[in-house]
Amino acid sequence: MANVTMDKIVNLCKNRGIIFQGSEIYGGMGNTWDYGPVGVEIKNNLKRAWWKRFVQEDSSTYGVDAAILMNPRVWDASGHTQNFSDPKMDCKKCKQRFRADNLIEEYSKGSISAEAMTNEEMEKYISENQIKCPHCGNFDWTPIRQFKLMFETSRGTLDGDKDIVYLRPETCQGEYVNFLNVQRSMRAKVPFAIAQIGKSFRNEITPGNFIFRTIEFEQMELQKFCKEDDSFNFYNDYKTKAMQFLLDLNFSPEHLKFHDHDKLAFYAKAACDIFYLFPMGWSELNGIHHRSTHDLTRHQEFSGKSMQYLDPITNEKYIPNVIEYSIGADRLMLAVLTEAYNEETLEDGETRVVLKLHPALAPYKVAILPLQKNLGTKATEVYKKLSKTFMCTYDESGSIGKRYRRQDEIGVPFSVTIDFETLENDTVTIRDRDTMAQIRLKIDEIEDYIKPRIQFN
Ligand code: GAP
Repeated sequence: MANVTMDKIVNLCKNRGIIFQGSEIYGGMGNTWDYGPVGVEIKNNLKRAWWKRFVQEDSSTYGVDAAILMNPRVWDASGHTQNFSDPKMDCKKCKQRFRADNLIEEYSKGSISAEAMTNEEMEKYISENQIKCPHCGNFDWTPIRQFKLMFETSRGTLDGDKDIVYLRPETCQGEYVNFLNVQRSMRAKVPFAIAQIGKSFRNEITPGNFIFRTIEFEQMELQKFCKEDDSFNFYNDYKTKAMQFLLDLNFSPEHLKFHDHDKLAFYAKAACDIFYLFPMGWSELNGIHHRSTHDLTRHQEFSGKSMQYLDPITNEKYIPNVIEYSIGADRLMLAVLTEAYNEETLEDGETRVVLKLHPALAPYKVAILPLQKNLGTKATEVYKKLSKTFMCTYDESGSIGKRYRRQDEIGVPFSVTIDFETLENDTVTIRDRDTMAQIRLKIDEIEDYIKPRIQFN
């Protein structure tokens, strides 16, 4: 990730089909982004890796895919209708609006967490440090005001006869409201977890930082339902697992750190984030929270349904504690791109940009490159064969050197070159993205060569 700036990441994404500005031909729509053909593959691979690690490989975790639109009472129970708002300040000179907590965190380069500060404490800090407007550079702020974050829409058949419903601002409520369904239908015994990956929506005002904070994003969330006595073990366990997941995706340990919360919500027993060294500085990548019995107790209160679990062995009845692990897929995507971005100076003095993605995350596992266009028939045959097993890409335009560079820039781990020898003996060269070393293999050997090298374990 040496010398990586946000501009370099954004330009690479735009020019290489990874991420585009949302609604670009209409001048864009603030804080929305569209994943292109390359980006959608990387993001899908990220979600697959998370699901494999946290659902597939854990027999006591159950996946769900809950509705985005939920009964509005859910948001009364969760506290979002009353409390889910951000502290906003307007610059009186340029009229731009900012989150006060972000101003503080960006000014302090992540060394201060404003999450638990009161509005008065934030105003005092901003004033004492004379934090200026990032847009126009003036220091002339309005007082902090709270700004509602939930998007509203309505349902109903007739105008004037419509009920407000909300686009969910987090996926975890779909896990809490299905606690009883999953427990009964799967005969699940506490401790067990419910996980899901899905879209969430927040009316965020803060500009910038690309896909770090957007108004529509995907979350990968997991709730572990457990007994109070075990709860801190699970909390520490998920801290370790969340960190290990990132290290196994080839993150460098120097770019990650735990950040324990100093002040906790009244119901929470512990909370921590994992911070990553993003191009704009240290910022939250994911959270692990010990939420006590708060969520299930609130849903019991508001729904009238008992959330108590009956232990089949001890006959004890209790509301389980919840340990939550939550990570944004888009925020992880930004971290992965930042971490993988490399510029290398080659022997001939040229610079190559290479995304050193974990091969399991690579958008295409293999690039099929005919040395010349008249080798297209054989190359297409190889493409058809390999694309039954791997996502492949085909490129026949430009010099072979330029084609290797294009594959390096999007992180394709293996390039298969078809040359005239291929016609004679069915062998090809395979080039490794990171070492640029080449070996010669039979076409029939490629699959077995690549398969073990692209696993996420
Ligand atoms: N259910 C708990 C919850 O939603 P959160 O800290 O608000 O907690 C969890 O969000 C994770 O979701 C964050 O650590 C981040 O990775 C991601 N996230 C939150 N808001 C986001 C936004 N506006 N844009 C992109 N990702 C976001």
